[in-house]
Amino acid sequence: MALLETRDLTKEFGGLRALDRVNIAVERGELVSLIGPNGSGKSTLINTITGMLEPTAGDITYAGTDLVGMKPFEIAQLGVGRSFQTASIFPELTVSENVEVAAFAAEHDSFSVNFFRRRDAYDEVRERTDHILETIELDAKAEETAEALPYGDKRRLEVAIGLATGPDLMFMDEPTAGMSPGETEMTVSLIRELLEDWGMTIFLVEHDMDVIFDVSDRIFTLHEGQVIARGPPEEIRDDPAVREAYLGGEEA
Ligand SMILES: Nc1ncnc2c1ncn2[C@@H]1O[C@H](COP(=O)(O)OP(=O)(O)OP(=O)(O)O)[C@@H](O)[C@H]1O
Ligand SMILES: [Mg+2]
Repeated sequence: MALLETRDLTKEFGGLRALDRVNIAVERGELVSLIGPNGSGKSTLINTITGMLEPTAGDITYAGTDLVGMKPFEIAQLGVGRSFQTASIFPELTVSENVEVAAFAAEHDSFSVNFFRRRDAYDEVRERTDHILETIELDAKAEETAEALPYGDKRRLEVAIGLATGPDLMFMDEPTAGMSPGETEMTVSLIRELLEDWGMTIFLVEHDMDVIFDVSDRIFTLHEGQVIARGPPEEIRDDPAVREAYLGGEEA
């Protein structure tokens, strides 16, 4: 059974069909990417799966559980995470405090007040925070104030905050957007580490095709809300429908 599966997932905004009967399946441990021109429905797909948007029709199952109708925090508790946008960073807290807050929030949701009564609760959160900051290579900046970080470090702090909730499946929406080549390279090696050492499953939305073709096991291509191609990178690269979608659009 696939870890995540959508069946005929459809999302309409008024008269606009942003997702049109999308069927995708993600296996545990793989890295799948979602590509497609601007406005093709990529963010809408992530937002619908993670409970930020309610689908108009269709099913979503995660590890056999029906996600439709669940609240975002309930879906997060099942092990579905996402790397948040900058809005989720507390600018005046330090890097490590930001991760600790997220880790505590996750525990609070799942174990309620009992977690805070346990004497070792803080040690556990600290340990998890240290491990995350090491992985993300922000350990040297753990005590720096978040707002003082350069852009690339802020983006990686978002990933760290996403990891603090302990997800099995992580959605990343354009993690390298606006990054320098060096920062992009760092993010790619981070993604590899999450896959190989942490055993995570990753669902990536990304505009940088070099990154996509480099890290993906499989790629889904969306065009006007429909999946027009799916397969390993070498197939997608030469797929005429994918080329047409990109070259035919105004944004290409
Ligand atoms: N909350 C909303 N209300 C109305 N229309 C929306 C909403 N969110 C997205 N849309 C529309 O749905 C379509 C898909 O948008 P979406 O943001 O999912 O595209 P995308 O593939 O993520 O694009 P990009 O590559 O620019 O991030 C677009 O036409 C967009 O204008
Ligand atoms: Mg988007």
